[in-house]
Amino acid sequence: MPLVPLRILLDHAAENDYAVVALNVNNMEQIQAIMEAAQETDSPVVVQASRGARKYSNDAYLRHLMLAAVELNPNLPIVMHLDHGNGPATCMSAIDQNFSSVMMDGSLLDDGKTPADYEYNVKVTKEVVDAAHAVGVSVEGELGALGGIEDGHGAGLSQEEAMTYLTDPDQAEQFVADTGVDALAVAIGTSHGAYKFSKKPTGDVLKMDLIEEIHRRLPNTHIVMHGSSSVPQELQDIINQYGGEIPQTYGVPVEQIQRGIKNGVRKVNVDTDNRLAMTGAIRKVFCDKLGEYDPRKYLGPAREAMKKVCVARMTAFGQAGHAGNIKIKTCKKMVDFYKK
Ligand code: G3H
Ligand code: 13P
Ligand code: ZN
Repeated sequence: MPLVPLRILLDHAAENDYAVVALNVNNMEQIQAIMEAAQETDSPVVVQASRGARKYSNDAYLRHLMLAAVELNPNLPIVMHLDHGNGPATCMSAIDQNFSSVMMDGSLLDDGKTPADYEYNVKVTKEVVDAAHAVGVSVEGELGALGGIEDGHGAGLSQEEAMTYLTDPDQAEQFVADTGVDALAVAIGTSHGAYKFSKKPTGDVLKMDLIEEIHRRLPNTHIVMHGSSSVPQELQDIINQYGGEIPQTYGVPVEQIQRGIKNGVRKVNVDTDNRLAMTGAIRKVFCDKLGEYDPRKYLGPAREAMKKVCVARMTAFGQAGHAGNIKIKTCKKMVDFYKK
């Protein structure tokens, strides 16, 4: 089965009241972890690569690793998605590299940092929608800006600053009409990275009610939650037990994501939880076996630890068991769909 457009998976998720987790990758072990988790749970797959990931791993390696994933898992529908594309050129280069879905993040200027105005966002997003849909590739847009890490993506906004860039439901309706995106990423108080909240988030800082309002106004739009790692206590503890120094932090509780899924959330982005899981596993090997020098002996456990997180999210978000139920269309076949 070739790579499939994101839209196919999200339409199926909407029809069946679940969401798909979109998992970031930079290397072979992460792709393997996701594919093993998907096989174990019979899940459709969304693998995503940021600009930083493409630079780190090189597009050619990524492309061939994904071809291997497709070849070895012919029973699973697999999407390769560009995470946080910073401009039309980045999105088009991803499409050239076999990505079946792209995110045009026009909420920020092309420096990937400065919050953009609405007109700019619509202009670049519409440009990508027109070009991507012409070749059957799906497009995610973003309205509002997330807080979090400044390096490479994200406005570097503090949690308080990010609260001033929440998605406006009125504007969301207009944005979907103006651009024709397949999926809409919303800013509801989450941020990228491990340091999202200083205590378990309440509705004041994690605005799930905003998702409910956006879904009420746009019942047919697939909503995307970014910055949705849950930052589990046990993963923080493992890192700290083996010499790490992660200050106490809180993520997005899985039950809040499940509330979102009841209200139109169809794609949930998770990267940090896998980074934490891999780091904890590697630290443990380094502390327990001081004489170890074979990378397989620590990358193997890291892969296993990431797989566990992926299985847990695939199960919690409801995508488990659905891989075989999705009627597949290739990008080529989607060209006609998008013409309508
Ligand atoms: O958008 C955030 C993802 O966690 C990707 O992060 O830009 O460090 O690869 P990255
Ligand atoms: P986390 O940092 O919460 O995993 O978010 C990842 C993300 O939103 C990627 O786009
Ligand atoms: Zn993101």
